[in-house]
Amino acid sequence: MTTTVSFDRVSDIYDATRGFPPGISEQVTDFILNLVSATADTKFYETGIGTGRIAVPIAKRGYSYTGIDVSEKMLAELHQKLEGVSHKLTAIQGDATALPFDDNSFDVALTVHVFHLISAWKQALAEIRRVLKPGGILLYTHGQATSVGADSEANAPRWEFTERWRAILDGYGHPLPRYGATEEEVLAELQQQGATLETEIAAQWRVEDTVGKLLENQENKIQSGAWSIPDDIFPRAIQDLRNWALERYGSLNYILPQERQFKIVVVRHWA
Ligand SMILES: C[S@@+](CC[C@H](N)C(=O)[O-])C[C@H]1O[C@@H](n2cnc3c(N)ncnc32)[C@H](O)[C@@H]1O
Repeated sequence: MTTTVSFDRVSDIYDATRGFPPGISEQVTDFILNLVSATADTKFYETGIGTGRIAVPIAKRGYSYTGIDVSEKMLAELHQKLEGVSHKLTAIQGDATALPFDDNSFDVALTVHVFHLISAWKQALAEIRRVLKPGGILLYTHGQATSVGADSEANAPRWEFTERWRAILDGYGHPLPRYGATEEEVLAELQQQGATLETEIAAQWRVEDTVGKLLENQENKIQSGAWSIPDDIFPRAIQDLRNWALERYGSLNYILPQERQFKIVVVRHWA
């Protein structure tokens, strides 16, 4: 059985919790258009288009853009952003593993922070390959904004917080779930299929969240990893995290900074 993780439940807070900081969206858009040498004829496709965090800015520049997502509510947010705007964006409800498009339809495919959610990720990859034109490019981003070397010194305090949450859940016998692929698995598969991979950093920025904010995020289950934790365990696990954090940092106002980057793996010679 394949699992899929719809984002219906967080569609209304997705942009507020995952949106890029000011200026970064434009930077990412410019970077992508330049990377693929986009022309007026370039046809973009995205698996797991969501609220259009990546797609809408590209569509607003006039490019043809098509996407699918399992979540009707995420798509509703996307369509709202395009009200009154002239555009060539088509976003429909569908599953990554069975795309309702002809072979060889698109020049550039993108997928951002989706493959960790899809158990049948190899099938999703095969579908992208099928709808890409020969010579087409895949831009693969595994996370929404990967922290710069999670174990780097700059991110060590934030990493410790995340690892504590993981350890608490492990202790209750309900580890954070793994629905789909790891980045390493996807990249290894692409290489095995003959693709050449190049890593690009489209943008880099720093976030400064307080311990209180990070606790609130976990409490509100904004991350998909929290959605499968049983209701009897979740409040106890959160309380454990809160107790640990108060002891560790002394105050909920303590800042845990994080250096983030938008990393794109450019996949060529694959389609
Ligand atoms: C973390 S969000 C990323 C959205 C967007 N790519 C972005 O970066 O803002 C993951 C998206 O993948 C969608 N999704 C999950 N499983 C899917 C599947 N099997 N087929 C299509 N979309 C899927 C979810 O509904 C959600 O909108």
